[in-house]
Amino acid sequence: MMERNTKQNIILTGFMGSGKTSVGIRLSYRLRRMLLDTDKEIERRQRKTVSNIFAQDGEEAFRQMETEYLKELLKENGSRIVSTGGGMPVREENRTLLKKLGIVIYLQASPETVYERLKEDTTRPLLQNGDAEKKIAELLSERQAFYESGADVIIRTDDKSIDEIVAEIAAGLKLG
Ligand code: S3P
Repeated sequence: MMERNTKQNIILTGFMGSGKTSVGIRLSYRLRRMLLDTDKEIERRQRKTVSNIFAQDGEEAFRQMETEYLKELLKENGSRIVSTGGGMPVREENRTLLKKLGIVIYLQASPETVYERLKEDTTRPLLQNGDAEKKIAELLSERQAFYESGADVIIRTDDKSIDEIVAEIAAGLKLG
C-alpha cells in the first residue's frame, strides 16, 4: 500500500507509450492537482520539439536538460503530478532526484503493448530509424531494472484502461 501523502508530487515513469501522459491528465483531473510533463516543459523552454533537440543538439544534451529540469522542480514546493520522458530513470542521478521529488509510480508495459501503441508514431526520435519493434524490445530490457529500482510503486498497464490505471493509483494513494 502506498503512503498517504498530500504534499508530495506524484511522478509517473515508464517507457514510451506506457500511458504516462494519458494517465497523468486523467489523474490530474481526479485529484485536482496540476500536471507537469517534463518533455513539454523542455520543449517550451528550448522552443523546439524533442525530435529537433535530438537532431540538432543530440541525445546527451537532452538528457542533461532533463536532469537540470528535475533539479529545478526540486526547488519548488510540490503537490503536482509529474509525467516524465521515458528515458528519465536511466541516469542514476535522475532516479535519486525523482525519489526526492515525490512518490514514483512506474507504469509497466510489455514490448508488444508499446509497439501496438506506437507503431504509427513519428514523434519519438529513438524509434524512427530501423526496426521499431526490435528497438523497443532492446531498450525495454536495458531499462527494466532502472525503472524498477527507481520506483516506489509498480503498476502493470497491459490490458487495463486508463480509467482502471487511474483508479488503481488513486486507491493506492488513498487520495481518490
Ligand atoms: C524518450 C522518451 C520520450 C522523450 C524522448 C526520449 C526515451 O518521452 O523524452 O523521445 O528515451 O524513452 P515519452 O516517454 O513521453 O515518449
